[in-house]
Formats: sequence, C-alpha cells, structure tokens
Amino acid sequence: MRIPFIAGNWKMNLTLSEAENFVKIVSGRLPDADQIETAIAASPLFLPSMIKLSKDSPLKIAAQNCFYKDNGAYTGEVSPMTLKDIGVSYVILGHSERRRYFHETNKMINLKVLSVLKNGMSPIIGCDEKMSKIKSNHHMKWLDNPVSEALRGVSAEDMSKVLIAYEPSWAIGTGRAASKEEAEDGCSLIRTTISELYSPQIADQVRILYGGSVSDKNVANLMQCHDIDGVLAGKASLQPEKFLKLLNYQK
Ligand code: G3H
Repeated sequence: MRIPFIAGNWKMNLTLSEAENFVKIVSGRLPDADQIETAIAASPLFLPSMIKLSKDSPLKIAAQNCFYKDNGAYTGEVSPMTLKDIGVSYVILGHSERRRYFHETNKMINLKVLSVLKNGMSPIIGCDEKMSKIKSNHHMKWLDNPVSEALRGVSAEDMSKVLIAYEPSWAIGTGRAASKEEAEDGCSLIRTTISELYSPQIADQVRILYGGSVSDKNVANLMQCHDIDGVLAGKASLQPEKFLKLLNYQK
C-alpha cells in the first residue's frame, strides 16, 4: 500500500519568522505519518529552525535543491551531506523552475539524485510534461524521458526511497490545474516507465505526486486517481490553514 504524501513547496517565499510560525501552527494538527505523510520544502536558511520546531511532529522538512558534491570549491551551493546532517528528509530535484531558470540538465539531476540517495535522503524528482498522446490509441508516450534519465544508476533497492512529481509546466502557478484525467495520464506513464526500467512490483511501490495549481478545491479529485499518490503544492502551501485543508482532502 502506498501511503499518501502531501507536500508543500514554498519556493522563494516567506520569511524565517513566518516559516517558524507556520510550523508551530500545523505541527500539532497533522495526521499520523502512517495515514498521510506530510512535508514542507523550504529555503535552506529556514531548515535548521523548522527541523527543531517540528521534531515531535510527523511534519518532515525538505530542501528544494542541492548540489551533487558533498563538499569542495563550489561557491554558493548547498551540500547534500550537510542537509542530511541537519535532519532533512527529502530533497526536491529537477523542479521545472530549476530546469528553466537555472538550466539544470537531466545529467545534473541524475548526479543529484544519486548523491541524495547516497546520503540517505529521499529525492522528489520533478518531471514535466515532455510527453504527448499517441493519437491512434490515446496512450501517452515520452517526447523526452526525464524519468529514465534521472534514475540512471539508481538501484532497485533505492527505489523505495524515490518519489516522482509530475508537474506540467503550464499548470504551475497558473491557476489552471491539470484535469484529473490529464494528471492521471502523466502519472500513469511515469509508473509504466518505472515498471519497464525495474519491475511491476517496484513500480507499484513508488509514490508519484501531481503538482500544478493544486488547491483545496481539486485535491480530493486528484487523490482519487489510481496512479496519483499525493500532491506537491506551491501557492496552496504558503498559509498554514490552507495547507491543513489539503491534508483534510478525505473529509
Ligand atoms: O512545486 C510546486 C509546483 O511548482 C506547483 O506550484 O501549486 O503554485 O502551481 P503551484
């Protein structure tokens, strides 16, 4: 059984005091981690304080990116080893904004995935809409396959730590979420790809999230889909009450 995963990606938003206040408000009001897993990806500057404040809560703290080397002369980069050291659980890698504004390539993302896994954390691999429908049978196919590129060299054993987020770029921050069918089509192609790369059993265990204008209005619908195990919400995760509404999608 795949435990639902509801995560927020704050991107470059909020201040430290707002971040701390958020954690204080939500910490005592979260479902148990064996029902729904919850994570917030925040600026590296907020992470130590958020980790401290959430230590007795099911809330997991995530980074939004890191470098693939543990240390060295890489001015301005964040080491995966230091993220692990302070207690980070998840790292988003290859988000479409990283690909677009910072020219991250599949090769770089693959190196980061391997490094995050080596450091004992879980990557949440961003994957956008480089797929299209085959007209004849309405199935989806890849135009460019970021999943197999990101997973190059990842062992079958490590796949239990990997999450993938399907985020069509046209749905990110636009208020126009993918329909349930569009989101399911993308997530299902990702699962099929993992099945082909590894095995149907492994594909069945990997959690696949949908991201792109998720809100309390569409989350329940999206979570009904067979291949959608959770969401990665941007805007809807910035305020504690709004984020808590996402977690209550079953009510
Ligand atoms: O990582 C989150 C996504 O980019 C979605 O952002 O919910 O603001 O559209 P959004």
